[in-house]
Amino acid sequence: MLRPGQTPAGTGGPTVTRIGVIGTGVMGADHARLLTGAVSGARVGGVFDTDGARARGVATASGGARVFADPYALITDDGIDAVLVASSDATHEDYVLACVAAGKPVLCEKPLAPSAAACARIVEAEAGHGSRLITVGFMRRFDPGYTDMRRLLAAGEIGAPLMLHNVHRNPAAVPGLPGSALITNSAVHELDIVRWLFGEEIVEVAVHTPRASAQAGGTRDPQLLVLRTESGVLADVEIFVNARYGYEVRCELVGEAGTVTVDAPPPTSLRRGGLNARTLPGDWRPRFAEAYRLELQDWIDGAGAGATAWDGFAATVVAESCVAALASGQRHPVALPPMPALYRG
Ligand code: NAI
Repeated sequence: MLRPGQTPAGTGGPTVTRIGVIGTGVMGADHARLLTGAVSGARVGGVFDTDGARARGVATASGGARVFADPYALITDDGIDAVLVASSDATHEDYVLACVAAGKPVLCEKPLAPSAAACARIVEAEAGHGSRLITVGFMRRFDPGYTDMRRLLAAGEIGAPLMLHNVHRNPAAVPGLPGSALITNSAVHELDIVRWLFGEEIVEVAVHTPRASAQAGGTRDPQLLVLRTESGVLADVEIFVNARYGYEVRCELVGEAGTVTVDAPPPTSLRRGGLNARTLPGDWRPRFAEAYRLELQDWIDGAGAGATAWDGFAATVVAESCVAALASGQRHPVALPPMPALYRG
């Protein structure tokens, strides 16, 4: 079985890993574009989407990749070495389990699955398989700002960590979005970053809400998550998906001897009419363009810096505790089962 980045025995030459992309909407199309033009050692070998026109469009843009009529046939096809799952959240579990059954590496967009129970089934299947095949698309782990923050923390530049303040804003969300979706779909990125940055688990959560924005169409938006880690670090996450003015993600880490700020101010500023203005992106793709590219390259190279299935499971467990805290208005403990041996070390 060919894994991304490996060369088949005896051939000696570089291998191009043929990726099957399942789900060719916003993210699937963007990943296919990067695999085709910005990542080395890979190409799009096949695509599937329930929307055939979308699949055909991405196949054409990817240089004529095969369009599959059946996603499970794509997964088991000998001409597909690895699979990228970028279909809607509820479909992830079946596809990832099919990849594990076929012994194929899979990069699954976040969340690994919408419920902790579904993530646990995936973890169990991979642990049963006996080696790691699954990577979860928490691309912020590759964002140069976040990796720098982690490096500076590890180097002791700001002393022991105390607090992490996160801001995560989108211009607009669909009206009627359930308040839980702000946590499970958006803030789940910060839940992963907190675990990755501090190398420890989140053990308690609370969710506070101000009055809802009149722009939020009935959604409980914004929300303020407060997370406590094992060693007592506090992280807060302001999640506001109807902020109107643009897409913005930034954070500040406070240590005993200094702070580190991650921000992505665009290089261009417009000075006019008494204002000095910088444009903000409309969504996450420009903000995290480099992170998506580095994430894919790492996966293709088999370098293994991406989030594991266990990380995907843990983030969803924390998200479920946050959803419970949102409903109750109380602090909630986070209880993770013991980590299987496959994910230790
Ligand atoms: P989208 O709605 O633009 O695309 C989803 C695609 O999946 C659509 O083309 C749809 O036809 C297709 N689809 C639906 N059911 C399917 C099935 N059973 N089999 C195959 N294809 C199916 O959504 P978007 O924004 O591209 O999100 C896709 C995934 O990426 C989601 O899991 C989402 O949570 C995640 N995401 C990750 C982001 C990140 O920063 N890492 C950002 C945005 C989304």
